[in-house]
Amino acid sequence: MVIYDFSNLMEENIGEHGLSSLFFKEKEDLLQTVDRQIKEQARLGELGFMQLPFDQPEIDKIKRLAAAARGKWENLLVLGIGGSSLGAMALHQALNHPFYNLLPSEKREGCPRVFFADNVDPELINGILESIDIKRTLILVISKSGKTAETLAQFLLCLDHIKKVGDPHQQIVIITDPEKGPLREIVKEGFSSFSVPPNVGGRYSVLSPVGLVPAALLGVDIDALLAGAQAMSKRCETLENPAYLFALTHYLLMQKGKVIHVMFPYAYALRGIADWWRQLWAESLGKEGKGPTPVKAIGVTDQHSQLQLYMEGPYDKVITFLTVKNYRTEVNIPSFFSDFTDIAYLGGHTFNQLIQAEQLGTEAALTKTGRANAKIILDQIDAFSLGALFYGLELATVCCGFLMDINPLNQPGVELGKRYTQALMGKSGFTTEKEEIENWFLKRPLYQV
Ligand code: PA5
Repeated sequence: MVIYDFSNLMEENIGEHGLSSLFFKEKEDLLQTVDRQIKEQARLGELGFMQLPFDQPEIDKIKRLAAAARGKWENLLVLGIGGSSLGAMALHQALNHPFYNLLPSEKREGCPRVFFADNVDPELINGILESIDIKRTLILVISKSGKTAETLAQFLLCLDHIKKVGDPHQQIVIITDPEKGPLREIVKEGFSSFSVPPNVGGRYSVLSPVGLVPAALLGVDIDALLAGAQAMSKRCETLENPAYLFALTHYLLMQKGKVIHVMFPYAYALRGIADWWRQLWAESLGKEGKGPTPVKAIGVTDQHSQLQLYMEGPYDKVITFLTVKNYRTEVNIPSFFSDFTDIAYLGGHTFNQLIQAEQLGTEAALTKTGRANAKIILDQIDAFSLGALFYGLELATVCCGFLMDINPLNQPGVELGKRYTQALMGKSGFTTEKEEIENWFLKRPLYQV
């Protein structure tokens, strides 16, 4: 079960910085309008992510790949970036052991160790290749467009390494558009592949093979994940649902100048969810001169880093705690030094109580000082809850985009930088961009010290 608690966004609890009782008057109309728009876009096939919980034509093939990989591969190397990586990383971090790669194979139930190469920093890619035996590595190349420079460069490098010692057709699996793009052409040379539905955008694709294939290979129960998403989809059939309310409260608070949105998980395992959400919220909602700035903070670590700003800085933030009722383990705090009041009170409690007290204490402090804060509550971290959370936050993003009157499905702003990069790397057809870089950018006035 996923609950969205927005008590501390209301004027009654945080005073003038909260939402007034007008909220309840506006809510119905705004949600009805946006719900109609979502249903219409879904009917037109624009919101493919809404079908993913129910429609998975390749699920058996995914399970067969995962079953065959157990005990066979020592490593899984995932090549992908942005929406082609963050979802799988979030799933792995949330559902697997915090030091998964250090566990012996039997504790991983035969699943491979995992490396995510979501950057082209030569030190990272070289570091990965130095840490694995490429002959014993399965490689997932994930790119919906099949054109992303970062992923393709890594693919070329890995192909070169494998050709020297192994069999590329056995070791490389490609996840891309079912028909378009260079990677789909390359699949025809005899590579295994999975398809990303054309109407599912990268950052909305975690519940497609983009997230499901790596997750299954890493031992995640993908049926439970999809069941969680189905349950959330069902809840979202009525207007009063967590996704719409998350979107609406954030949208209305943006009108009150709260344009920085913080996702603050109080579970180390959920740090990847905050990374995933940050991309989803930023790339979907930041356009046409509008958009919130999403920030990731980690409880309790960032209480000792960001919290001062959240407590006493400008009233421009909405903080969402992401909390867990039941952690998967309980750890006692031993009792020593009973003469020291600064230490003695800790003994006899658990770390579970401490992290929950810190979350509640921080929430109370923010509320007392009139700081807008909300809470997403998970019963526990499991595949079912995460499925519900992913689906709910994706729907919330689309809902918020429609309320803001922008298109939450595109990302025109990332194109220009890509074109300049391609021009700099000598791709044909980019003469104008190359000239602009040479004649304007590299000649602009410089101020350096
Ligand atoms: O959300 C998006 O569309 C992007 O973040 C993409 O996922 C990212 O750019 C990677 O694209 P691709 O999967 O085509 O390699």
